[in-house]
Amino acid sequence: MVSNQKGGVGKTTTAISLGAALVEHGERVLIVDLDPQANATSGLGIGKDLPNAIYGVLLKERPLEQSIVATAVPGLDLVPSGPDMAGAEVELVPLMGREYRLRQALQSTNGYDTVIVDCPPSLGLLTVNALAAVDAVVIPVQCEYYALEGLAQLLSTIGPTAFPGFGRASSDTPHRQARRSAEPRHPHRHVRPAVSRGTSLRRPRARAR
Ligand SMILES: Nc1ncnc2c1ncn2[C@@H]1O[C@H](COP(=O)(O)OP(=O)(O)OP(=O)(O)O)[C@@H](O)[C@H]1O
Ligand SMILES: [Mg+2]
Repeated sequence: MVSNQKGGVGKTTTAISLGAALVEHGERVLIVDLDPQANATSGLGIGKDLPNAIYGVLLKERPLEQSIVATAVPGLDLVPSGPDMAGAEVELVPLMGREYRLRQALQSTNGYDTVIVDCPPSLGLLTVNALAAVDAVVIPVQCEYYALEGLAQLLSTIGPTAFPGFGRASSDTPHRQARRSAEPRHPHRHVRPAVSRGTSLRRPRARAR
């Protein structure tokens, strides 16, 4: 799963890019969009209003296979999100096994080498569902002071399977300092090289609009 309770740090961009990269290496990949914002869904060119989206899987126990859609990238499939997910955190509360709904659903998925879950920017029940379902966590982190404040707490919540990725670093002094202070606390657990801040990532979407 790709998670960080901080918003706008590159979770969705990482989920889509990682999925596409694994497909290039010959894997079959399923991306599960767990975020009510549905950015992974629109980012992969899928409409946000499909009837069989992740909401039905989590709340109505609909089989996951009925919600899988193919994307334009052969080998990369998606379980889309949509506007009905806005109430999912609250609607999950009274349900039996509310933390294990995604884990249960993913048990019936066959034929994928990797499943990537794109999480919302919170540590609520949706993220807890992802934590209960996955083997490892990728945490995109911006090298900035406030981002580092929450990182220690997030890592202690998740435990030893977390892999913080120090991303979107720039060469300016505060970023270099933040990165230098974080890396020794998490030895061997950060991803190299850091993802640089690139304007080309924003350009195609701006043009599409
Ligand atoms: N390496 C990068 N360089 C420049 N811009 C980037 C980079 N990675 C992501 N972005 C941009 O930053 C913005 C936020 O990225 P993204 O939506 O992936 O973050 P997020 O953590 O999923 O956000 P949210 O918490 O809202 O789900 C997007 O406009 C994206 O294009
Ligand atoms: Mg996102």
